[in-house]
Amino acid sequence: MQGVKDYIETHKERFLEELFDLLRIPSISADSAYAKDVAKTAQVIKSKLQEAGADRAEVFSTKGHPIVFAEKILNPSLPTVMVYGHYDVQPPDPLDLWTSPPFEPEVRDSKIFARGACDDKGQMYMHVKAFEYMVANEELPCNVKFMIEGEEEVGSSSLGTFCEEHKSMLSCDVILVSDTSMIANDVPSITTGLRGLSYVEVEVTGPNRDLHSGTYGGAVANPVNALCEMISQLKDDKNQITIPGFYDKVQVISSDERKAMNEAPFDLDTYKSALAIEEVNGETGYTTLERTSIRPTLDVNGIWGGYTGEGAKTVLPSKAYAKISMRLVPNQNHDEITKLFSDYFVRLAPDGIKVKVTPHHGGQPYVTEVSSIEYQAAAKAYKKSFGVDAIPQRSGGSIPIIPLFEEVLDSKTVLMGFGLDSDNIHSPDENYGLFNYFKGIETIPYFYKYYTEMKSDEN
Ligand code: BES
Ligand code: MN
Ligand code: MN
Repeated sequence: MQGVKDYIETHKERFLEELFDLLRIPSISADSAYAKDVAKTAQVIKSKLQEAGADRAEVFSTKGHPIVFAEKILNPSLPTVMVYGHYDVQPPDPLDLWTSPPFEPEVRDSKIFARGACDDKGQMYMHVKAFEYMVANEELPCNVKFMIEGEEEVGSSSLGTFCEEHKSMLSCDVILVSDTSMIANDVPSITTGLRGLSYVEVEVTGPNRDLHSGTYGGAVANPVNALCEMISQLKDDKNQITIPGFYDKVQVISSDERKAMNEAPFDLDTYKSALAIEEVNGETGYTTLERTSIRPTLDVNGIWGGYTGEGAKTVLPSKAYAKISMRLVPNQNHDEITKLFSDYFVRLAPDGIKVKVTPHHGGQPYVTEVSSIEYQAAAKAYKKSFGVDAIPQRSGGSIPIIPLFEEVLDSKTVLMGFGLDSDNIHSPDENYGLFNYFKGIETIPYFYKYYTEMKSDEN
């Protein structure tokens, strides 16, 4: 397996060019104008999996965007690793804040800049290239399946049904995912948890039409004012969420575990200066690392209403809107939280205001055990390629389909992410380090090797 470094060195340019070809296709799942590009991306991935050595590769159409499935079965008695990833990307706007166009990938400062460079085309494609290496060098120790979807960024709505309908095709021992980040290039970490998500849109209505703010102002409730007042009541002065029952099921983390978690390398000054903020701001009694991993939170993601054009227009708007997300932790249930939010938010409405709450996608939180074979195999793989021990770390982000895999396919997931928090995922100038791309390709085959060894020792 020492050959993996040489193989990467020999094929570096091609590995990069192939990723660039994928990054050039604007596979924006949220925007129906790009549906053809999304579909084309699925076809390209299918071909790449075939070329890399899959015996079977297919594009499955769904009610939404297609799912790519591929496999190479060496021997049914061997363990099976299934790679999950997504080829869809977030919309690139605001476009004017990109240094180079989002779908014209380029390398600057040893980083690949493009929408999807890290999330998740770059991280997903490392698996295709690691697979190519293992097949070409007869180093593939077990069976492998790939399931690459095109709807992750919009809630994976077709994938649950797809899993239900293809349980035996998708059966596997472990699901391997690279769609998270690590602490730093010299401080590798393995993600042991993801937060859940409840995402709602609220519509607040006052009068039946926009009114003159002089004629009516002061006598009729203004929905923009009302919405701001309602939102400001969602957190108290300790930055705790005020929704009744919100914390009832939150898993309490032992002081030992909190202590261990806070030993992870983290520099508050670097954190603040990277974001150009003078102070951090969060729930009283918790550190920044805790606030972004073991504690739930609530954020307004967007808010609008009334006149926002040039100059001034005197108007008392009829409606105001906001999109609100709540990040959840074990053992909160996203449907329950959505209901608690809705009931409470409606009650917060002042006189003369009507409220409508529409739930969007959501998902459950996820945690993995560090004692499991899959975690241990991943840890050994990082140690081998990075030369240092990887640190277990819970992430603040969400991949709502992962808990569902466990429910439907009865398989655990291992989250071997190689991104960095500074990669600007979902933001302008998204990027992925060349180091990270190639290090990922180098680390993955070791996971297959150690996992297969540990699995056979177990039996
Ligand atoms: N890859 C991210 C999730 C992520 C990011 C995990 C950083 C850990 C660290 C994923 O593509 C994503 O963006 N998920 C969404 C949720 C989804 C339902 C849109 C998220 O976390 O906001
Ligand atoms: Mn992702
Ligand atoms: Mn994402």
